[in-house]
Amino acid sequence: MLVRIGLSVLALALLPLAGSSAALAQDSREKAAAVKQEEGKWFDADGNPTFKIDEDGTVDWYLFSGYRRYHSDCHVCHGPDGVGSSYAPGLMESLKSIDYPTFLSIVAEGRKNVSSGKESVMPAFGDNKNVYCYLDDLYIYLRARAVGAAPRGRPPKKADKPQAAKEYEASCMSG
Ligand code: HEC
Repeated sequence: MLVRIGLSVLALALLPLAGSSAALAQDSREKAAAVKQEEGKWFDADGNPTFKIDEDGTVDWYLFSGYRRYHSDCHVCHGPDGVGSSYAPGLMESLKSIDYPTFLSIVAEGRKNVSSGKESVMPAFGDNKNVYCYLDDLYIYLRARAVGAAPRGRPPKKADKPQAAKEYEASCMSG
């Protein structure tokens, strides 16, 4: 009896969740809107990094850079274009609900999941400059994928590399 009551409470609690996944997608699209730019990098209304795609399809530098970094360091496990694989989750799905600070800490610290019986490991990239010097780039690219703004494949047109990106890269890679 107790168990049955428990289950129906659980079912009730889950109902609103199922219905809100479309709303969540809509919500994350709106949240991702670029409202201000600092030296070629775009930010949303909350001050988190985001992407900017012009009407002619030109993507901002960081989105393009993130595309490249993703396909050198993440795609072996997470699949091309963030679609996922049998080993690791599709990050275009994950980034619909994972926020910027959470993304940064997962990538820096890694994660291990043994609950399903088979072990799956997200490596820690906190000491890998090829990744941590480009965390914003990766986030911006995957965010654009998550909200359906960036199509699959290499973006055909990109903005020039901002001076600020060159300077940050030089200091991060040598630091
Ligand atoms: C060696 C394989 C591997 C590589 C390389 C890898 N990941 Fe992962 N990643 C995983 C696995 C496996 C998980 C799921 C871990 C778990 O179940 O908790 C994961 C989880 C994640 C998550 C959390 C996703 C979620 O839905 O909770 C993020 C974000 C992430 N990875 C980002 C990245 C980024 C960015 C890169 C490239 C810099 C990268 N990963 C490279 C294997 C990998």
